[in-house]
Amino acid sequence: MPARINPSILAADFVNMERELGRIGTADLVHVDVMDNHFVPNLTFGPQMVERIQAVSPVPLDVHLMIADPDRWAPAYAELGAFSVTFHAEAAGEPVTLARTLRSMGARAGIALKPGTGVDSYLDLLPEFDQVLVMTVEPGFGGQSFITETMPKLRRLHEAVKASGLDVWLQVDGGITEETIVTAAEAGANTFVAGSSVFKAEDPAAAIRLLRETAARHIH
Ligand code: DX5
Ligand code: ZN
Repeated sequence: MPARINPSILAADFVNMERELGRIGTADLVHVDVMDNHFVPNLTFGPQMVERIQAVSPVPLDVHLMIADPDRWAPAYAELGAFSVTFHAEAAGEPVTLARTLRSMGARAGIALKPGTGVDSYLDLLPEFDQVLVMTVEPGFGGQSFITETMPKLRRLHEAVKASGLDVWLQVDGGITEETIVTAAEAGANTFVAGSSVFKAEDPAAAIRLLRETAARHIH
């Protein structure tokens, strides 16, 4: 099974973004972390910057919105042409309505769950989403350690997706390395965000290849 590897530019050099994007041309998508210093205690960039990233990126955008009130702000990212827009379950007022809006604008719609957020109430909503993001660290910062306790949630999602026959991508984000990617793939993930382990590598293309091949051996 193919494994998608989405490097997170949170670990890139922000003042040399175009050059940094050039180093990950073999990735599946580029993961773009939007933070508002409100939903998470960190601040990155907004739609203006994301639009420029989109213009120079060799691969399509996987936007991860760690912002309050995504019902109001998320459609702008679909509007600028992002391939995928994921918002947080904890922040959304009307997640189904928002997902439908994003899809109607041509983007894939994703819903993200913080490590402490249960999955049960979202299983029935799977047909409304193209992706579920199981956060494997507390959102806000790169370079944290993978939280293994989130894996039972991923296993439940994997079973539910399989039973439904839907093609919902299961994404993990946070602390993904050559070791933890095995754990996540075995639990049911097929889409992997990797910040530090790609951008801090001497050869990001080699890091992407290694992560992809390692995950592919354990995806089921
Ligand atoms: C964390 C972000 C992640 C982060 C992952 O809030 O959502 O995308 O960049 O970074 P690493 O891979 O370094 O844990
Ligand atoms: Zn992210």
